[in-house]
Formats: sequence, C-alpha cells, structure tokens
Amino acid sequence: MFKIKKNIKIFKKKIKKCKDIESINNIKLLYLSKNGYINKLKKKLKESPENLKPNLGKNFNFIKKYIIKKINFIQKKINKKKSLNINNNEIDIFLPSKNYFSIGNKHPITIILNKIEHFFEKIGFNFFYGPEIEKTNYNFKLLNIGKNHPSYNIKNTFWINKKLLLRTQTSPIQIRYMKNKKPPIKIITSGCVFRKDNDNTHTPMFHQVEGFWVDKKINFTHLKYIIKKFIYFLFKNKKKIKFIPAYFPFTEPSAEVNIKNTNNKWLEILGCGMIHPKILKNVNINYKKYSGFAFGMGIERLTMLKFNITDIKILYKNNIRILKQF
Ligand code: DAH
Repeated sequence: MFKIKKNIKIFKKKIKKCKDIESINNIKLLYLSKNGYINKLKKKLKESPENLKPNLGKNFNFIKKYIIKKINFIQKKINKKKSLNINNNEIDIFLPSKNYFSIGNKHPITIILNKIEHFFEKIGFNFFYGPEIEKTNYNFKLLNIGKNHPSYNIKNTFWINKKLLLRTQTSPIQIRYMKNKKPPIKIITSGCVFRKDNDNTHTPMFHQVEGFWVDKKINFTHLKYIIKKFIYFLFKNKKKIKFIPAYFPFTEPSAEVNIKNTNNKWLEILGCGMIHPKILKNVNINYKKYSGFAFGMGIERLTMLKFNITDIKILYKNNIRILKQF
C-alpha cells in the first residue's frame, strides 16, 4: 500500500531535474504542502487498519524523512550555486562581501589633508586649486622671489623651460587667485609641490596647504588666532606654540610657527606672515586700503608629527599593512 520503493524512485527522478529555485519550489509544493504527498500519505496512515499501523508508520516516517532531507540538501545546493553565479551571469549585489575583498583605508596624508580642509572650510575659507606645472613668474617673480633665491637655482627645482616649472610651493595660488579678484578674499588651497630633495624627511614631491585672507584691517592678531585654533584642532591636546620671526620674500613681517612635541623639542610646522604690499600691488589690490595674511605648511610634516612617523618614505611605499594602522 505504501510502496516505498516505487514512490521514492519517482521522487528521485523529479528531484534530479531540480536545477533552480523555481523547480525546487514546485517539488516542495508537490511533496510538502498541505495537499502534498506527505500529508496525503499521513491521512492514509490514519485511515489504515490498526494492526497495520505500526509497520506502515515506520515506512511513512522513512519516506517523510528521506524526502525532507533530500529537498533541503538540493535547496542548499541551488542557493550556493546562485550565490557563486555558476548558474547565471548575474551579480548578486546583496551578498555580504568576503574579508579578502577589503576596501582598504584612507592614506594618512589624505586623513590629515581632510582634517585641515574641514577646519578652514568651517571658518569660511573657500577652496581654490591651481596647476602643478606653474608659470615661473607666478612661482617666483610676482611673489617677490629674486633670481638669487636658492629655489631659483637649476639644481633645486624641476624646470620645464624658462617660463614653466613644477611649482616649488603652493604660494603661486596667491597670484593666480588674486590677480583678477577684489577683496574680501579668503582662500585655502592644497596640492603637490616639487623640489630636488631626497632623504628621511624629504621627498622630491610632497604636499602643501596654503591659506590667505585679504580684507580691510586684517592684521597679525587674526593670523595668530586662526593658527592657534587650527593647531589645537589638529593636535587635540593644547600644544605649546611659539611664533618666531622669519623671512619670506612674500610676507612682511614673517614668522615660523613652532610647536613643542612630546620630547619637549620645538618643531617648525608652518610659515606665515602679513602679505607683502608688493604682492598686493602685483595683483592690482590697493595695499593702502587692504591688508592680508598668508600661511603655508607641509602636510607630510604634520602627518609625521601627528602619527609619530620618523621616516617619510613609508608614506610612499604603499604597504597596506603599514597604511592600515592609521
Ligand atoms: N611657500 C613657503 C614654503 O614653501 C611657505 C609659506 C611661508 C607660505 C609663508 C606662506 C607664507 O604663504 O606666508 O616654504
């Protein structure tokens, strides 16, 4: 009555043909649903004579278990195939990613640059960027840098021809931006600069951030206030800071900002000053009416200070195990 062999044979034939979700769902309907084979068999079992029930019950259980186990097994197989895309060429974008597809992380220089830009954006500076191949005049002459300045020397700078070079600093952005603008001017810029330098703390290419603010009555206290706030923001704890008189051809007066590091050593982290009237004149801004300050800093240096890195080269080796630490 419960012809196990025959029924299992039919079931096996059917399940063998199951290759996709649709066919496995059909089988489930046929065998496991309310009106499916198993329930029908159960009904028959209930209606059978009492004396046959123990034996038939055993057969029923065997068939039921076999069918459920097999269906589950095939279902898993189909699901797995689907996820591996063997069956079709679709990509299942909802699958969780595997660990070995890790997407990496931000480069420490990017982390610091983002922080710097975030700070200055919040206090109202606008972004403006310029080319890495710069006009010689913008890089030197219009910034009041004379031909006897060391960076003018052929040995220290990557020249393209007499009129073009790889910019040695981001300060030419001051000229580029201000030459056809009227104050108020409040700009922050960043990018690569190039010098023929190469040792533990220098690379031929590095990054700088430059900012300048020109308006009526801008003075040194504005500069000092912003730089202090910025350093406290970047280094979190209140570092000791000092402004030391310095010389830059494009600012007057000029200063270097030093911070005290954890070993109690003073380290220079940026240059700044009041924009030289000559520069304002060069870009047709009335220096009697307007004044401004400017500052420039190396991002590698700040990154090394922030993360206690002693060899600048590790920033460029792109060793993922090192970069992942930041
Ligand atoms: N351009 C300078 C350098 O590369 C840095 C600098 C110093 C920028 C003073 C400034 C500044 O804007 O006011 O060494």
